[in-house]
Amino acid sequence: MPGDFDLVKERIDIVALVGEKVALKRAGRAYKGLCPFHAEKTPSFTVDPDRRTYHCFGCGEQGDCFTWLEKTEGLEAIEALKVLAERAGVELTTRRPPAERERETRLLQVADTARFYYRQALKGTERGNAAAAYLAKRGITPETIERFGLGYAPDLRDGLLLYLKKKGFTEEEGVAAGVLLQTERGTVDRFRDRLMVPINDARGRAISFGGRAMRADQPGPKYMNTPNTLLFNKSATLYALDAARPGIRAAGAAVIVEGYFDAIACHQAGFGNVVASMGTALTEQQYRILDNLKAERAIVAFDGDAAGQRSAESRGRELLQAVQRHRQAALRSGGRVETRTGLGMYVTVLPENTDPDDLAREDPRRLRALLDGAEELVTFVIERIRDRWKGRLADPEARLRFLDDALSVIREEPETVRREMYLTTVANTAGVDPAFLRQRLERLPGAPPAPRAAPTGAGGSEAARTASGTGAAVKQTPTVERYLMALLTRFPEEAARVDLVPEDFATPELRALFEHLQAGKGPSTDLPAELAAVAAAVGASAPDMADDVAPGRAIEIAALSLREQNLRRRLDEVRADLAAQAVDDVGALDAEVTRLVTELGDLMRRRERRTVLQSQTEREEESE
Ligand code: UTP
Ligand code: MN
Repeated sequence: MPGDFDLVKERIDIVALVGEKVALKRAGRAYKGLCPFHAEKTPSFTVDPDRRTYHCFGCGEQGDCFTWLEKTEGLEAIEALKVLAERAGVELTTRRPPAERERETRLLQVADTARFYYRQALKGTERGNAAAAYLAKRGITPETIERFGLGYAPDLRDGLLLYLKKKGFTEEEGVAAGVLLQTERGTVDRFRDRLMVPINDARGRAISFGGRAMRADQPGPKYMNTPNTLLFNKSATLYALDAARPGIRAAGAAVIVEGYFDAIACHQAGFGNVVASMGTALTEQQYRILDNLKAERAIVAFDGDAAGQRSAESRGRELLQAVQRHRQAALRSGGRVETRTGLGMYVTVLPENTDPDDLAREDPRRLRALLDGAEELVTFVIERIRDRWKGRLADPEARLRFLDDALSVIREEPETVRREMYLTTVANTAGVDPAFLRQRLERLPGAPPAPRAAPTGAGGSEAARTASGTGAAVKQTPTVERYLMALLTRFPEEAARVDLVPEDFATPELRALFEHLQAGKGPSTDLPAELAAVAAAVGASAPDMADDVAPGRAIEIAALSLREQNLRRRLDEVRADLAAQAVDDVGALDAEVTRLVTELGDLMRRRERRTVLQSQTEREEESE
C-alpha cells in the first residue's frame, strides 16, 4: 500500500491535475497561478512538475497530488489514492473486492471472538465478578448486561492474544481489528482490567470497543477506545444504534446522548430510541445516519454539568454547523432536503450536575418531560444569544449587536425557507421589520471567498456590482458549477454542444440559465430580470483565459468535472445509505454503487484523455 502512493504520484501529471482548477502559466521549470487557498491578485502559487508538488509562497499551503484532492475535494487520503490510481491506470495492491471483503469478514470474526472472551471473563473470573458488582452498583441489571454484551478485559498481558491464536487468528489480525496492541516488546492485549463496552454496527455486529477503567489509580484515560480500523470509523458510528433502530422508527424521533452508559441506562429505563455520539459533538455523518432512518426529529441532550451549561450556546452552534453542512451537501446533490423536510434538530439541556444516566435511573418522568420540551436548534441558539444580551436590549447599539450575532447564525442556513423563518423570529425578538433585517443580512461581510480570477472587463464588474443583491445565491454556488457557467456565458454557443442536462446544475438559477442558453438564446437576450442579474454576476467572475486555450475544450473538461462531482456525491449518499442499513433493498443499492463506480471510472478516463489532449496541444502550440 505505501508503495502505491509513490507509484501513483510518479504517474500523475500534477500540472494537469492542478490545472483543472487553477489557470497555470509556465515560469521557468515550474508553473504559476493564482492561489486557490487564499485570495490574491498576483500569482504566488507554484506547481513543480519535477518534485510533483505545489506550494504557495503567499499562504504557505503545500502538498502533492493526494493532499490536493484532500483539500479541494474533501477526500480522505485513501479515497484520493483510489481516484488518482484509477486516473493513472495503476492497479492498487488492495482493491476492495474480494480480498478486502474477506479481510473484513476475518476482522469481524476477531471482534466477535473478543466480545465473547470479554463476556466470559465478566462471568467467570474473580476480577470479572468485581466488575459485575460495579455494574450492579450502577444499577445495571443482568438483562441489560446481556443485551449490550458488556464484558470485562482481564488484567493480563496476553489473555486475549492467546485466545485469538487458539481460535485460529493471527496477531496481525488482532491488531488490525484494534483489540491487540503492537509494542516494541511484542504484541499485547490493548485492554487490561477494564469494563468492556462493545460497539456494534447497525446490524449488531461488534466493530470496536470502549473499555472503562474502574479504579482511580489505573493508567490511561477513563475510557480507552479502539482506534479507527477497517471496521470502525468513529465519526460515522453511533453507539447503541442497533438497539435503538426499532425505537427510532416507532417514535419517529432519536435521542442523542454523549456517553455509553447514558445510552445504556436510558434503554434500561424504557427510552428505546437513544443513541450515543461517544463523547464528541454530533458529526455530519452521524446526523446523516439518523436522517436516513427517516426520523422526524433528533433530540440532543446536553449534559447539565456546570461546564456544559456555560457553553450551551457554543455547543449549539457547533451542532448547527454539522446540520447545516449536511443540508448544504444534500441541497447540492439534488435538493433532497427541499422535497423532504428531513431530520429536525432539537436540543434540551439537563439540570445542573445531572446526566441522562442519572435522570433515567432517578427520575425518568422528568427526563421524558425534558425531551418532550426540547427546543428547535436554531431557536435554541438564538435564545442563548438573546440571553447573553438580556437586559441590554433597550439600548439600540446593543440591539444591533444582538442582531448581527443572530444573523451570523442565520446566514449559514442554506435553505431559503428556513432562513426566512429564522429571520422573522429574530426580527420579532428585536422588534424590527424583517424586511430591514433581510437587507442587513445581505450586506453582511464575510461572504464566501471571491472568485479567483479577475473580472474580464469593466462592464462585467459593473454589472456584477449592481447585481450583488440577487447575486448572493450565485456566490454561494459550488465552484465547479460557477466556473462552468462563467465559461458558458462567455461562449454561449457551446451550451448546445456540451454534454450536460439542466439537472446537472444544482443551483436553480444556474439550471434555468443553462436551459435558456441551451435553447440557443444569448446570455443577455430575453432574460427575466432575475436571471439577467445572475448571468451578469456569473459573467463577471469569468476566468481570465489565455488566448490559446480553445473554449470548447475548457468547457468540455469543466463539464466532465461537474458530472464527476455530482456522481461522486451521489455515490457517497448511496454508500452512506448502505452503511447505515437504512434501506430495505440492499441488493438494489449495491447494484447502484457498482453502476455509479463504473460510470465514474468512465468519466475519469474521458476527462483524463481530454486533459492530456489539451496539454499536448498546448505544448505543440507553444513550441511553434
Ligand atoms: P463521560 O465521561 O460523560 O462518559 O464521557 P459516561 O459514559 O458518562 O461515563 P461514566 O458514566 O463515568 O461511566 C462521555 C463519552 O465520551 C467518551 C466515551 O464514549 C464516553 O461514553 N470518552 C470519555 C472517551 O472516549 N474517553 C474518555 O476518556 C472519556
Ligand atoms: Mn456518566
